[in-house]
Amino acid sequence: NQMNIITVPTPTEAVERAAAIVADEIRSHAAPVLGFATGRTMESLYALLVARYRKGALDFSSMTSFNLDEYVGIATSAPQSYHTYMHEHLFDQVNMPAGHGHIPDGMAVDLNAECAAYENRIRASGGIHLQLLGIGDTGHIGFNEPPSAFDTRTRPVVLDPVTRQQNAGMFGNNPDAVPERALTMGVGTILDAKRLLLLAVGSGKADIINEALNGPISEKVSATAIRLHDNATLILDEAAASIW
Ligand code: GLP
Repeated sequence: NQMNIITVPTPTEAVERAAAIVADEIRSHAAPVLGFATGRTMESLYALLVARYRKGALDFSSMTSFNLDEYVGIATSAPQSYHTYMHEHLFDQVNMPAGHGHIPDGMAVDLNAECAAYENRIRASGGIHLQLLGIGDTGHIGFNEPPSAFDTRTRPVVLDPVTRQQNAGMFGNNPDAVPERALTMGVGTILDAKRLLLLAVGSGKADIINEALNGPISEKVSATAIRLHDNATLILDEAAASIW
């Protein structure tokens, strides 16, 4: 396949490689449109982008971004929301104009209308130049739990029990406290981005990375859709790459 797979010895190097690619992408557009992801893996990537900004090596003043997903029913200001995550790790640390960082509103009264509006905002931006992706234990990208058709768009989804377990850390280690639903860009929305960059580190990701790369391309593992994209880069550390 056409995927560009980069394996480096350590998680630190993996995150550095990914941050360098994101920084180059930001610098190569007058008005960059980035697709952002959350999760523990991305925290250190945002820290590196903030460090570059502080050195004067990156400018966010003309950037627009769209996040992949958000929990349903968590207050925007709650510590567990992806709004809070993005403000803490990036938006409030750099010179990104207020309102340029888009995240689906999981508190919207009409969730379907919110998702349709989110799709329209992405389209109106001209499309995402680079979409950052993590991968969940279910093989999800964004919150596209199995099965997610490859033509799905931004929509409300029910989270898999495996995902609620994986993300319980922010909810007092109680999977039952993790919201049952989320809003997520669809697999089709993600595939529309001009470039995809998936970052996965640690031995905990080795099995699912193997499935994503070697398993049948299937709606049962959303991440296999990446193999259908013509400009996808995967950055792995040796632990995450240890099985495939
Ligand atoms: C959440 C996000 C996913 C992300 C995953 C990975 O589930 N919705 O987009 O890929 O976390 O999380 P981590 O980096 O913490 O392993």
